[in-house]
Amino acid sequence: MSRIKKIGVLTSGGDAPGMNAAIRAVVRTAIFNNLEVVGVKQGYQGLIKGDFETMKSYDVSNILQKGGTILCSARSEEFRSVEGRKKAHEQMLAAKLDALVVIGGDGTFSGARIFTQEFDIPVVGIPGTIDNDLYGTDYTIGFDTALNTVIEAVDKIRDTASAHNRLFFIEVMGRDAGFLALRSGIATGAEAILIPERQTHLKDLEKYLAKGYKGHKNSGIVIVAEGDKSGGAYTIAREIEKKHPEYDIRVSVLGHMQRGGSPSAFDRVTASTLGVAAVDALLDDQKSIMVGMVNGEVSHVSFNKTIKNKKVVKDSLLTINDILSI
Ligand code: F6P
Repeated sequence: MSRIKKIGVLTSGGDAPGMNAAIRAVVRTAIFNNLEVVGVKQGYQGLIKGDFETMKSYDVSNILQKGGTILCSARSEEFRSVEGRKKAHEQMLAAKLDALVVIGGDGTFSGARIFTQEFDIPVVGIPGTIDNDLYGTDYTIGFDTALNTVIEAVDKIRDTASAHNRLFFIEVMGRDAGFLALRSGIATGAEAILIPERQTHLKDLEKYLAKGYKGHKNSGIVIVAEGDKSGGAYTIAREIEKKHPEYDIRVSVLGHMQRGGSPSAFDRVTASTLGVAAVDALLDDQKSIMVGMVNGEVSHVSFNKTIKNKKVVKDSLLTINDILSI
């Protein structure tokens, strides 16, 4: 028998579509297993303030399909300090919380890892970020939806690009990772994709554009990951414009619209699967781990491993794009 009787669930860091589906799964799995469950508002900030709300099954009705997070999210500065984490621990003791499920990205898991080390509180993480940049899981919740949002936007930009014979530089999110850029670039037939994992050589880009866009195509799309080392879509566009005033160039930064919207079927199912897996892991006396998906199966990876290792971009995807964008 597990000693866990009452758990808390929170969402932290950048919100991602599917977080609500994960909250619903955690709450209902906890209730199914006769546990009490509370929602913690605004991530670690709410943990520090004791901003807790008892969750019943009906509290998570009708949220599966909604973007954002009903628990709200934050990036808590205070939780980075020992004093902040001490306050959070005191609030957990006062509310008789035995364990936590945290839904978020690497920042969320870094906080969780220190917290478990300092106070021996079992914490299980669910990967929720549109960046898909976590080691130990093929997909993070929200990535698939964001990908589809980007694709929809780029398809629309392509319409106007080809109507005016223009070259567009489109910047997508992903922080310092290029997963969103790479997949959206392939899915939209981008002429070039610039990601932080690969060095951008402006000379190569110029040659490439001259061959394709100016050669036989009537529009051009370059997807630029926001973390690309050459400085973002505006900077790269300016460089190309300086050298090629003959190109009619426009820039579009997609921004936070990538984080919103109703989650895709894939994200809903992944979130539901991982929500169940997270509570099961706690009942199995696991602590300080992330539940993820690898080859379609649930994986368990220590916070240590997921934080210390870098997820690698598949070379095969880069090759596919090189071949298809000639
Ligand atoms: O981590 C998710 C993400 O959307 C990144 O892609 C982006 O760099 C960052 O969050 C933006 O953060 P904020 O919403 O705090 O501006």
